[in-house]
Formats: sequence, C-alpha cells, structure tokens
Amino acid sequence: MTETIGVIGAGTMGNGIAQVAARAGYTVVMRDVKDEFLERGLKSIDRSLQRDVDKARLAEEEKRAIVGRITATTELGALEGAAFVVEAVTENFAVKSEIFRALDELCRPEAILASNTSSISITKLGGATRRPDRVIGMHFRNPVPVMKLVEVIRGIATSDETYARTHALTERLEKIPLECNDSPGFVSNRVLMPMINEAIFALHESVATREAIDGIMKLGMNHPMGPLTLADFIGLDVCLAILNVLHEELGDPKYRPCPLLKRYVDAGWLGRKSGRGFYEYSDK
Ligand code: 3HC
Repeated sequence: MTETIGVIGAGTMGNGIAQVAARAGYTVVMRDVKDEFLERGLKSIDRSLQRDVDKARLAEEEKRAIVGRITATTELGALEGAAFVVEAVTENFAVKSEIFRALDELCRPEAILASNTSSISITKLGGATRRPDRVIGMHFRNPVPVMKLVEVIRGIATSDETYARTHALTERLEKIPLECNDSPGFVSNRVLMPMINEAIFALHESVATREAIDGIMKLGMNHPMGPLTLADFIGLDVCLAILNVLHEELGDPKYRPCPLLKRYVDAGWLGRKSGRGFYEYSDK
C-alpha cells in the first residue's frame, strides 16, 4: 500500500486509527504536539498488538512490520504527502478548525481531510477549508482495533467521490462503514449519550448503586460494559462535551448533562484515563 495515511492526535482514538491503518498495510504518519504524547500512543499500539501476538493471532515479525510503518512526529509538515488525513484531537471546534485550516494549506489538493469527531459538524469543519467537498467524518469507536463500526458522515458539501474513497478506505481497514448525515452526535452518540446520561442521573438520584446500575444493563440488556463503566472508558470529559453539543445544537432539555457528570469533570475525575471516574483504576 503506497498511500500514506496521516493521523492527527496520538491519544486513545488517534493511536488506534494509526494502528489499524498500519496493520492494513498503509504507511502512517501520526502527529501530536508533544513527544510524550507520541511515546504514550506508541506504547498503547505496542500493548494492543501484543494482545494478538500473545494469542498467536499475529506473528512477532508482523507486529514489528506494522510498528515500522508508523512514523511518529510533532511536525505537521510530515503530513504533506498524505492522501488521507484523519484528525482525532480534543472535542473542541476551535482546535479542530485550526487543524483543518492548516492541513488545507499543507496537503495536496486531492487529499481528503477526515475528522473522527464524536459530535461536531462536518459542514462547519469543511467551512474552515477551501476544500469542503473533500472533508468528511470518519467516526471510529473505542477500542478502535476491536470495534467494527465507522460512522461515515457527509457534510453538506462532501462530494460523492470523497464519500466513495472514504467508504473504500474504511473497508480496507477491515471496518464496516455506515453512512449518516451531518447532525449533532450523528446516530451513535445521539442514541448512546442520553443512555449514559440517564444512568448518571439514576446514580445522582440514588435509584441504585453504580455496581447495580451497570450490572442491570449488562445482565438485562447484554451490554458488554455497563453505562457508567463505559463512560469511564470513553472519558467523562468526552461524554460531557458531546452532551453539551447535543443540548446546545438540538435545543432539547433532555440532553442537559447530569450535574453529577459536570462535578466529576470539574474534579478532574475523567474516568480510566485519569485513574478515577465512577470507579477507581489502580493501574493509572
Ligand atoms: N486492542 C486490541 N484488542 C483488544 C483491545 C485493544 N485495545 N481491547 C480489547 N481487545 C480484545 C481482547 O484482546 C479480546 O480479544 P479476544 O476475545 O478475541 O481474545 C476482546 O477484545 C475482549 O477483550 P477483553 O477480554 O479484554 O475484555 P471484554 O470482553 O470486556 O471486552 C471491550 C473489552 C471489547 C472493550 C468490551 O468491553 C466492549 O466492547 N465494550 C463496549 C465498547 C464500546 O461500546 N465502545 C464504544 C464507545 S463510544 C465511542 O468510542 C465513540 C466516541 O465518540 C465517544
């Protein structure tokens, strides 16, 4: 695969996207703003691939080849030759739009600029560039190496060719592309976040303990994780950011974030990534 895929952001989602692209045979340039973030991302990729090596699903030399296809850099210029760039940075429009503006200046005219945004308008991101027809959403799910879904979101100006190229890339990454239009939270988070928010309200109002709330949903609905565990897994700050977008953009009070969620985020209790959310994580 001669094409180069650029990934902006080496966090949970970014390093997962870099991993699946490299595993599909692409040359990958993964960029973040600090070497420490890149090192953390590379360690996460190594741990994730090692799971498959340990289960004899991936040969050690193939793991080395995959890691060898990933260049980690703090230089945005390293993305100049990328045919596709997937942005996976913080869920903040100002930060994302600045990255899209810079990529628009830097990348080849035919390059496609995709965002892994959880909820922010693809149309608005396209408006930050002079190539809105080549801007699209590729919304992966955490953990990226495991979850098959990629929600492919068209902005109002996204061209059919861009959609077709994105659909083809998603399948080459061994993911399942499902299309949706540019609406706050798209489908996945418009449905998922209210469920998580209601679980937090149930805890806030002492309807049940955190363990019971999660257990009821795991055993009762056969969910792999209870909603409070899932929120910790996603990141409570990410959940709050998405609920704020849904609440502001759709204007329906049913999306108002639970006060308990805001308090946890204010306290820095962000879930697994900070060592504490609704549960405590000693390995942090
Ligand atoms: N890399 C590679 N493989 C991984 C992995 C990783 N990071 N994490 C888990 N796995 C693999 C394990 O190796 C194992 O593989 P195997 O069963 O084939 O041997 C399998 O996944 C199951 O993992 P575990 O046995 O460790 O643990 P679980 O059975 O609890 O599964 C889970 C972990 C896959 C995360 C499962 O709990 C799950 O599916 N949870 C729900 C995740 C979810 O809903 N994600 C969406 C979040 S929303 C989002 O991301 C969007 C954003 O916009 C907010």
